[in-house]
Amino acid sequence: DEADLQLAFDSTIAHNDRIEPRDWMPEDYRKTLVRQIAQHAHSEIIGMQPEGNWIGRAPSLRRKAILLAKVQDEAGHGLYLYSACETLGVSREELTLKLMSGAQKYSSIFNYPTLSYADVGTIGWLVDGAAICNQVPLCRTSYGPYGRAMIRVCKEESFHQRQGYELLMTMMRGTDAQREMVQESVDRFWWPALMMFGPPDGDSPNTERSMAWGIKRHTNDELRQRMVDMTVPQAEKLGVTLPDPDIRWNEERQSYDFGEVDWDEFWAVVKGNGPCNEQRLAHRRKAYDDGAWVREAAMAYAAREETAR
Ligand code: ACO
Repeated sequence: DEADLQLAFDSTIAHNDRIEPRDWMPEDYRKTLVRQIAQHAHSEIIGMQPEGNWIGRAPSLRRKAILLAKVQDEAGHGLYLYSACETLGVSREELTLKLMSGAQKYSSIFNYPTLSYADVGTIGWLVDGAAICNQVPLCRTSYGPYGRAMIRVCKEESFHQRQGYELLMTMMRGTDAQREMVQESVDRFWWPALMMFGPPDGDSPNTERSMAWGIKRHTNDELRQRMVDMTVPQAEKLGVTLPDPDIRWNEERQSYDFGEVDWDEFWAVVKGNGPCNEQRLAHRRKAYDDGAWVREAAMAYAAREETAR
């Protein structure tokens, strides 16, 4: 009966084993996973837009090939994640409609504009850097299909992060105008990158339960601190200044102290009032409408094959 199923589930979680699609799971565990995995998938898909904006204007063939490969990887990540989500009994169509209606979220970071080519480098370095901090622990998440998707995604994110850092290094070795462009870009993306980890632990309604279920392995603030500790030495090596006068090494904690994120800005962006929220969703809806004939043709073809058999 249900009590035995719950005991079996609890024991799997306690042993850090994986829950698989055919296993019994509490309804709230399933719902939480659908929420998080869908939001993650949507972020990958919407995340193609800010960088896709520069594919046609890349400064060289080499840079264009790298950027194209990267944006294609993001489409791939979105698709693995939608597939992982489908194992929980929701369809990709349903998820796509919920993204377009605003019923499901995507990461706040993708509501900021990309104003210069340096942003391609900064997104790789800081945004994909934050994604790695957040996602490496998710390789050990308790739900099998999600954890396995994360292993592949993280390998590709590491390449994304490195291509960004390498692009910025190249620009920093260039002209004064290029160095200024990098600094200006880092000034715009630093705080939004820290917001990617979600609200502070005290204002995060989902963390405690998601940690108890082994869905999340660390709190939002723990991962944000890890990001700061990883990035400060990289910024020094690059020769840029992070736009936070409160960053300093704390000998006692063996970590960097840093300033307070503007949480009013974070919630405004999450609620739909960031600089590009409307534009991102409008673009997604248009792509969906423009693709209608492909879906219809595929369905008609499948139906004809079925009758021919
Ligand atoms: N952008 C938009 N919404 C956010 C963000 C963010 N950066 N951070 C938190 N939220 C939302 C949560 O989804 C939640 O809203 P909901 O209950 O309506 O879904 C609310 O704010 C409160 O936050 P938490 O209780 O802290 O939510 P949660 O436990 O889900 O933690 C986190 C948020 C850390 C983002 C978690 O969902 C996660 O690790 N997700 C997987 C990684 C991911 O989605 N990455 C996407 C960007 S990386 C990339 O694509 C390159």
